[in-house]
Amino acid sequence: MQITRPRGTSDILPGTTEKWQVIEQTMHRICREYAYREIRTPIFEHTELFLRGVGETTDIVEKEMYTFLDKGGRSITLRPEATAAVARAYLENKLFAQPQPIKLYCVGPMFRYDRPQAGRLRQFHQFDVEVFGAAGPGADAEVIALAMDYLARLGLKDLQLHINSVGCPECRQVLPEKLRTYLAGQVGDLCGDCRTRIDRNPLRVLDCKNEKCRDIGREAPTPLDCLCTACAEHFEQVRRQLDLLKIGYVVNPRLVRGLDYYTRTAFEILFSESGAQNAVGGGGRYDGLMETIGGASVPGVGFAIGLERVLLVLERQGVSLETAAPLEAFVAVAGETDELATRLLADLRKEGVAADRDYTGRSLKAQMKYAGKTRVPVVVITGEDEAARGVAVVRDMATGEQTEVPVELIAERVRTLSGR
Ligand code: HAM
Repeated sequence: MQITRPRGTSDILPGTTEKWQVIEQTMHRICREYAYREIRTPIFEHTELFLRGVGETTDIVEKEMYTFLDKGGRSITLRPEATAAVARAYLENKLFAQPQPIKLYCVGPMFRYDRPQAGRLRQFHQFDVEVFGAAGPGADAEVIALAMDYLARLGLKDLQLHINSVGCPECRQVLPEKLRTYLAGQVGDLCGDCRTRIDRNPLRVLDCKNEKCRDIGREAPTPLDCLCTACAEHFEQVRRQLDLLKIGYVVNPRLVRGLDYYTRTAFEILFSESGAQNAVGGGGRYDGLMETIGGASVPGVGFAIGLERVLLVLERQGVSLETAAPLEAFVAVAGETDELATRLLADLRKEGVAADRDYTGRSLKAQMKYAGKTRVPVVVITGEDEAARGVAVVRDMATGEQTEVPVELIAERVRTLSGR
């Protein structure tokens, strides 16, 4: 029986990897402009980090983690998200001792035992951004601006930014009770998940996807109704900064995110698809996270964008990314000119041309046919007669025009022809 890849994972093949390179290069470039620096943390962490960081009552921790015991009997989890891990790295490497704030980003695979469907995988990739040590609303606005700027640069259109404030622990003492009281009379109409959420995490009822729960949620009290003065002022300032940056948004009082660490600002970037809304990215402020995982109090704010979703939206919107041509020149070897072909190939590559040659010993005709299939723009043909005269033939594959070019000028000519 043939062995296949595990459900919910994907092989990213040539043709698509070039697109990944573009979205990653764009990410590196924009992070440099916004003065964020890359961090790389392990793919697996101690399970405890996510239990405490992400929260024990979240779907991620309750249902979706890839957790196993290693050979030393330690409980290990493949990271389902990056924030808790980056926060751990900040503490462990004493980044708090450096000038604050610390602005970081990372990219890589995350793992969630989710129900696979279009744009939802069990191994997926996130571009993740985190700022530590900046409590002001400007930091919230900056990460939102970075996320929106990145998606716009890639060419995504018609995205909606939803923002909300989920308040601080102080104002959040009020909301769960209010919610429980409101929901008490309607328990019978809630879905099974929400019934259990009433006790443990009633806020989650507000963003349940179930139609009936949504109807009930529409009239329910929201975090915005319960904000303390400081949180209300913070939210007001974030909105003002977004206005200043001309970033459009919708205030969605029912936006509560699926991770427990958020305080104050929460946001999601949505694209609509046959009526349903889907998130390309999301994030927010998490001023209590560091303490939850054993550090001193350090404010934080950030977001993550799902890269598979970015590619999906680009495809649905018919946007093509400008990828580099995989092959710019092909050297076709005729007669006994192997050494010349090897030399020319090396010259081409030194000029920065993506070049290849034949190694199979097939006929010139077969080599030309192969070159045609690769859609390479230029073929260099090394024939014996020409080699004896110190030249080779350069063929422009678009026009079919062939010119003899002195061997030492070939690389330069090809570079011009291939548009580099
Ligand atoms: P999240 O909303 O859980 O937030 O995930 C962020 C993004 O990752 C989603 O909007 C989506 O694009 C993508 N994503 C999530 N699950 C899957 C999946 N199963 N398959 C494909 N894509 C997926 C976080 O992870 C937070 N750590 C974000 C954050 C950073 N908050 C503050 N800093």
